[in-house]
Amino acid sequence: MTAVRSARPRRLPTTFLLLLALIALAVLWAAFAPKSSAAEAEDPNLAVREGRALFLVGCSSCHGLDAQGGNQAPSLIGVGAAAVDFQVGTGRMPLAAPAAQAARKTPLYNETQIRQLAAYVDSLAPGPAIPTVNLADGDLAYGGELFRTNCAQCHQASGQGGALTNGKYAPNLGRATPTQVGEAMRTGPESMPVFSPAQLNDHQVNSIAKYVEFLNNPKSPGGHPIGSYGPVPEGLVAWLVGIGGLVVATLWIGSRIT
Ligand code: HEC
Ligand code: HEC
Repeated sequence: MTAVRSARPRRLPTTFLLLLALIALAVLWAAFAPKSSAAEAEDPNLAVREGRALFLVGCSSCHGLDAQGGNQAPSLIGVGAAAVDFQVGTGRMPLAAPAAQAARKTPLYNETQIRQLAAYVDSLAPGPAIPTVNLADGDLAYGGELFRTNCAQCHQASGQGGALTNGKYAPNLGRATPTQVGEAMRTGPESMPVFSPAQLNDHQVNSIAKYVEFLNNPKSPGGHPIGSYGPVPEGLVAWLVGIGGLVVATLWIGSRIT
């Protein structure tokens, strides 16, 4: 009993020292930690400055030192955060090599860097902000209707895309996220027209995005979709497996009788 009681007061300073060490560590971390988004919240110009630094290294060779454009690329003044988030987020920018059209590829920049690049371009002149696409607000059937009247002539009714003139093409929408659908509509990349809020409001954008999501992840209540090739291949499989199964079963029964 006495041994336990005398051990107690000795353990207290150890806990206290440990606590002090932890506090010291936290203070050191706060002083030397990489600048976080909390620091950006205190200084909104930080994202713009970091974005400009990234821009000078990765984009200014084509778009000019002040994003004013040049003979290699258009001006980015007034294109807005939405255009930067779309172009860099889909890996189209930085353009790797001159082509009829910038292709979608794995993005070169991470999310923070894309946000900083967007903040820099947005600071030059007002332009479309990154849209907040809310699928829960979308109406699937209405979205399908809007998609067929506004988008299908280029992207096909199934969203698989197709060729346009002069080596350009409307891409397959299979990898586009709902936000990218909204960004493409609001900024009109390449030969795609701009769909401004006056033409299609936010509810209509949400509905179209919901329809594109549905095209990309179709529900198959009838069973396995075998690659969504349509009713003819599905019927063929049903015939081969169904009738084939019946024939095998009949043969098996026949072989048992004789
Ligand atoms: C090799 C040259 C080149 C580099 C490097 C480059 N771009 Fe581009 N950029 C282009 C060209 C050409 C276009 C226009 C053609 C197109 O949109 O496909 C363009 C278009 C854009 C657009 C669309 C403008 C609009 O009107 O909607 C944005 C946004 C953009 N670039 C951002 C960037 C950013 C940000 C970087 C750096 C991370 C970058 N680009 C690097 C050549 C370049
Ligand atoms: C006149 C033809 C045309 C019409 C109409 C059109 N688009 Fe596009 N769309 C394009 C082209 C061309 C591109 C590729 C742009 C680029 O690569 O810079 C594109 C790109 C996109 C992308 C980016 C895909 C990706 O994987 O990065 C999305 C999303 C998109 N379109 C959605 C739509 C929606 C939704 C509509 C209807 C509201 C629509 N488009 C109407 C031609 C069109």
